Amino acid sequence: MIVTIDGPAGAGKSSAARSLAQHLGFEFLDTGAMYRAVALAALRAGINLHDESALAGLVAGLRLQMPPGGRVLLDGEDVTVLIRTREVTAATGAVADSPAVRRRLVQMQRDIAQGRNMVCEGRDQGTIVFPNAVCKFFLNADPLERARRRQREMEARGERVELEQLLREQEIRDQRDAARDLAPMKPAADAILLDSTRLTPKQVVEAMAAEVRQRLSAHS
Ligand code: DC
Repeated sequence: MIVTIDGPAGAGKSSAARSLAQHLGFEFLDTGAMYRAVALAALRAGINLHDESALAGLVAGLRLQMPPGGRVLLDGEDVTVLIRTREVTAATGAVADSPAVRRRLVQMQRDIAQGRNMVCEGRDQGTIVFPNAVCKFFLNADPLERARRRQREMEARGERVELEQLLREQEIRDQRDAARDLAPMKPAADAILLDSTRLTPKQVVEAMAAEVRQRLSAHS
């Protein structure tokens, strides 16, 4: 059984997916981390991020593993922390535009989720990857609040960046994610829209868990 959470960066998808999964006794899958891992591999290989055939070759030979617990293994190496740098974040947008990368990662996401109970989060989980998910959420929040959250996250890792700059980078990423020809970020027609601006992470998860329970009881 699949539950999807899509939405822009900073809306709280990752922590919501993790806690909702725990709440339901499901596993969770952070699909943004998969695009980030491909971007890291492309940067390391010195590939032009707009060279479709080079990206296709790279992704075809890549061994990407997403073990339970949220770790990311690239060719056996734990890159969970390395994929969160600003350099990788900036490169991921171009990599996520690549049809070959998307095809491969969508297939991997379906394979990983096959036969499992999973909360899958990203941009296209409810629209493209799991159109038959039992419950779909689109989690959004005010842009300023999202940038503040990202700033706090970065500060916790010892990185200091001006809020203005984070807002600018966030706007570029949002536009790119929404305007992508393939799998643009948008709510599925049957998604439940949630705004986390004035909600605590706990309230977000409670709202989601209540919806999922309702769907599950309607299904049984
Ligand atoms: O959620 P995140 O910030 O870790 O996502 C990183 C990038 O990957 C972001 O530019 C959007 C893209 N992405 C995507 O295109 N499709 C997904 N399912 C998940 C992320």
